[in-house]
Amino acid sequence: MKPFSEQPEHTITMNVQEREITDRLKIMGAYYDLDTLLGEKTDNQAVAKYYRKSDFFYNYIHARGSHSIHLGLSDDVFYHKEDFLKQAQFVEGLLTQPSMNILEVGAGRLINTRYLAEHCPQHHFTALDIPNRNFLKNRVPKNVKLVEGDYNDLSCFPEQSFDIVFGVETICYAESKEKVIGEIAKVLKPGGKIVIFDGYEPKPREAMSEFEKHTAAVKWAAMRVTPKDHYIGSTRQYLEQHQFTDIEIADLTRQVLPTLRRLDRISGYYFMHPRMIKRMRNRISTDVTMNSIAGWLMLLTYDGENIHQYCRVVATKR
Ligand SMILES: C[S@@+](CC[C@H](N)C(=O)[O-])C[C@H]1O[C@@H](n2cnc3c(N)ncnc32)[C@H](O)[C@@H]1O
Repeated sequence: MKPFSEQPEHTITMNVQEREITDRLKIMGAYYDLDTLLGEKTDNQAVAKYYRKSDFFYNYIHARGSHSIHLGLSDDVFYHKEDFLKQAQFVEGLLTQPSMNILEVGAGRLINTRYLAEHCPQHHFTALDIPNRNFLKNRVPKNVKLVEGDYNDLSCFPEQSFDIVFGVETICYAESKEKVIGEIAKVLKPGGKIVIFDGYEPKPREAMSEFEKHTAAVKWAAMRVTPKDHYIGSTRQYLEQHQFTDIEIADLTRQVLPTLRRLDRISGYYFMHPRMIKRMRNRISTDVTMNSIAGWLMLLTYDGENIHQYCRVVATKR
């Protein structure tokens, strides 16, 4: 099949969202080869390089110095910097026993674990992220242990050793979410909880149009995320397969829209200024600047919830 960009214009009537996305893809395509982008690797080495290059920009442009590499959860229609702490505060609400063991997978620059460790000094935290992404350079409180590794293989931890395992916008990187959920199930104690905050696809691939699949794939690729296995219904199935119970999936899409609106403005400004694009691309790695592609698509792909959806998944190990 021809790449999407070479296919004839849609003959079916496009809705407003599709028309806007189509226009934006055309503008982005003038500066970035989107088909090459779709062919980029998404293995751990590629992801580590992407974050080594992007951490600085995530921190200063996206997170305004808070080290968040995730979306804020807003309780109203406005963006607030404090919204980046909402995921950690949700996990904090689950720390109900005296001295618990908590593992954060894909912890990045540690905004979540650092917040929890500082607010809950009686608990023990372990944070994991992939090698070669400067993870061990994070400075941490005494009750935090940093480990370099891959959540596709958690055998470096004893089985049934954690009360809670959580991940914020990281398991999207797994080609097989089933494998990661299986690994997490092994290291959780019976009665322990898994908590995931992440972007998902609300429909299985078979139910998506070619346009939706292409748009979704471009958005994931711009952040070096695999195009595979994002359907939220599959995650529920994997949890059931691995003996999780009390599965709760909350759709938090509305709450991420204020952060996405902000990213949309920043990225839109970038794409509307060709001289700036030229200057930035000469000085800054493509790993960083291509982030603007995701930044300029996400508000459209999440709003309406037909291409992407932001979910909180919580389940208890039997
Ligand atoms: C979007 S960032 C989120 C970072 C952090 N959770 C936060 O909320 O700020 C995704 C993180 O997942 C990590 N990651 C990706 N694949 C991973 C894997 N297989 N094992 C462990 N960490 C991984 C990346 O290195 C990156 O730090």
